[in-house]
Amino acid sequence: MVNKDKIDFYDDDKKSYEEFWVGREYEHQSELIAIKRLLKGRHFELAMDYGGGYGRVTPTLLEFADKVVLVDPSRKQLDIGREKLKGMNVEFVRQTKKDNVPAEDSSLDLLVMIRVSHHLPEPNKVFSEIARVLKPGGVGIIEIASEAHFVNRLRYLKKLQTVPKDPVPIGKRANGLVDDTPFVNHNPNTISSLLDELGLNTKDKLSVSNLRNQILKKHLSLQTMLAVERSIQGPLSSIDFGPSVFFLVEKT
Ligand SMILES: C[S@@+](CC[C@H](N)C(=O)[O-])C[C@H]1O[C@@H](n2cnc3c(N)ncnc32)[C@H](O)[C@@H]1O
Repeated sequence: MVNKDKIDFYDDDKKSYEEFWVGREYEHQSELIAIKRLLKGRHFELAMDYGGGYGRVTPTLLEFADKVVLVDPSRKQLDIGREKLKGMNVEFVRQTKKDNVPAEDSSLDLLVMIRVSHHLPEPNKVFSEIARVLKPGGVGIIEIASEAHFVNRLRYLKKLQTVPKDPVPIGKRANGLVDDTPFVNHNPNTISSLLDELGLNTKDKLSVSNLRNQILKKHLSLQTMLAVERSIQGPLSSIDFGPSVFFLVEKT
């Protein structure tokens, strides 16, 4: 029977999240470019890397914050993170309750949530937690896995359909499996409305990993891909072109 409260999927010894990143330097660097662009010129006291895994983006957050609290439900990811981020001003916290952000009300200056929305079929629950824990004027970077990226829109068009407003289960598409790990894509317009309703006002938006394509990766150097990526993240955000959308929000 599926346990709907389970959140420690990344403890599975048969899967390695670190290995997932082998061969994905373009996507990794594209995300760091987006974070740096969105946070440029700002500095925060206390930041949270929510669903931070082993802390892939945490060192980048430390360029903008005095301290980062890395929260994750997976003991395994936290253990790897403790090893990798030794000596950095990072506190590791294990999340034990689904849809909970383990922090006091209005206590955080910055919260970043990257590649977690995939696992949130009801993202409004975590978004309202984010609205609760951010200080007024506090900032969030919320990345969503988009169902509305350009290639998908063409697929829907071919079937004379539009992109669904609600989260779309993609377990089979993503890993060939339908196991009990929730795996969904989101519609950026729906996400934008949800954030707005919660007083998380969108200040900026970027379209990320726009060139995620095996043929391009084979023929173009990483440097070229990143130079192009850098110049199109902003302009392509208006049409939600890429597979990943980064929202910069500010709590009113
Ligand atoms: C794809 S990894 C992303 C890790 C990191 N943010 C990054 O970008 O490398 C997803 C992370 O979300 C965590 N996670 C899964 N379900 C979650 C949930 N319901 N709430 C919070 N975190 C969750 C996992 O343990 C995992 O470390």
